[in-house]
Amino acid sequence: MAKMWAGRTDGATEKLADDFNSSIHFDCRMYRQDITGSIVHAGMLASKGIITSAEADQIAEGLSGILEDLESGKLAIDMECEDIHMFVEQVLTQRLGDVGKKLHTARSRNDQVALDIRMYLRNQIDEITELTKVLIAAVTDKAEVYCDTIMPGYTHLQRAQPITFGHHLMAYSMMLLRDIDRLADCRKRMNLSPIGCCALAGTTYDTDRHFEAVRLGFDGICRNSLDGVSDRDFCAELMSSLAILMMHLSRFSEEIILWSSWEFQFIELSDAYTTGSSIMPQKKNPDMAELVRGKTGRVYGDLMGLLTTLKGLPLAYNKDMQEDKESVFDACDTVKMCLQVFAGLISTMAARKDNMKRAAQKGFINATDLADYLVKKGMPFRSAYKISGQLVAHCIQNGTVLEELPLDIYKSYSELFENDLYHEIDLVTCVEKRISEGGTSTASVLAQIAYVKEVLSL
Ligand code: ARG
Repeated sequence: MAKMWAGRTDGATEKLADDFNSSIHFDCRMYRQDITGSIVHAGMLASKGIITSAEADQIAEGLSGILEDLESGKLAIDMECEDIHMFVEQVLTQRLGDVGKKLHTARSRNDQVALDIRMYLRNQIDEITELTKVLIAAVTDKAEVYCDTIMPGYTHLQRAQPITFGHHLMAYSMMLLRDIDRLADCRKRMNLSPIGCCALAGTTYDTDRHFEAVRLGFDGICRNSLDGVSDRDFCAELMSSLAILMMHLSRFSEEIILWSSWEFQFIELSDAYTTGSSIMPQKKNPDMAELVRGKTGRVYGDLMGLLTTLKGLPLAYNKDMQEDKESVFDACDTVKMCLQVFAGLISTMAARKDNMKRAAQKGFINATDLADYLVKKGMPFRSAYKISGQLVAHCIQNGTVLEELPLDIYKSYSELFENDLYHEIDLVTCVEKRISEGGTSTASVLAQIAYVKEVLSL
């Protein structure tokens, strides 16, 4: 096919080289942004008298027609074209003749692609933000259902202190809220218009970059033309925010997998979000959570790939940068899929309250509260800690638990023990008296839920 850039060379390239060079099979998804940007560009050219208004109108109409035909399926994207920018311009020129050839005045594919990708990705950020909100709502709703369900809280994956399942779930709501915040921050820096930077040095035409920026919904313009066409930090920043988001989902997945295991049996996943084994009839596998955990590695890889691509590039545009798209598109697609599956997984899971409670009862997780009991009666914490530890050792040796140890044994360790100790080490008391802000008591958890609902206007 004849190349639009044939000039110095006759544009005749090897088929293999063409295929290697082409990006249309992945940048075709930016057709809408490309067309929208071009319509505004033609308007700017006319506003500055670089082309006539009649020409701009013709171009705008031609471009709108192409968009319509693409959306209705009347026009198919020609995968033989080098990229989406070439395709749109080629169809426009076929349809309009010489007027179509005026569109590319005072711009280059370098600022055009930088524009398209920023517009495409800010939409992706908006979509990902919405999906994250849906997930936070699902997690927060579950937290409300289980705001007073007692389970063991862990450190080092050893039973540590009793908490509520609602409290545990709300930790993830808070993480996901920060993920949304990071995305918003990234969007702010991304939302500057590179169009008008042209190939690298700006242009000799009297253009109006702000005209285009405002009409395309940008907050301002890139203030250095070399920077505008050659940095992809906004892609890396988006992918690092996505990598962090996936890290959160992956930790959550790991817990879902543990909790649904036969050993824990803390939760029951819906059949709709589990799979069976082709050979072992008893299996109900948490594949969705495993896949989210697995795809986290893939999103990290997307980020590392782009960072590595960019690290040695001299200014300004280099073809290496065409590699930005597949990784950033893959990261966005993967995250969107994971968020949707995860929201379904969470909203359909059920806690097995009895098992959670039983696990909390057996691990001496009220030993801190026993020590606190003595402290409240006047004993220094370190001494109380020691006695509490000795009592745990006594229970282990005698196959019993703190709740069932008779008072005379307690008294043999300290005269400060009275009958009210049993109330103090009751799991419900242990949880409900942790009323500090952010703590595990039902009241504290409900306050966290109210905060998240308010922030997200749920
Ligand atoms: N397909 C190219 C990309 O994605 C468009 C920019 C091409 N510019 C150039 N000077 N070859 O990066």
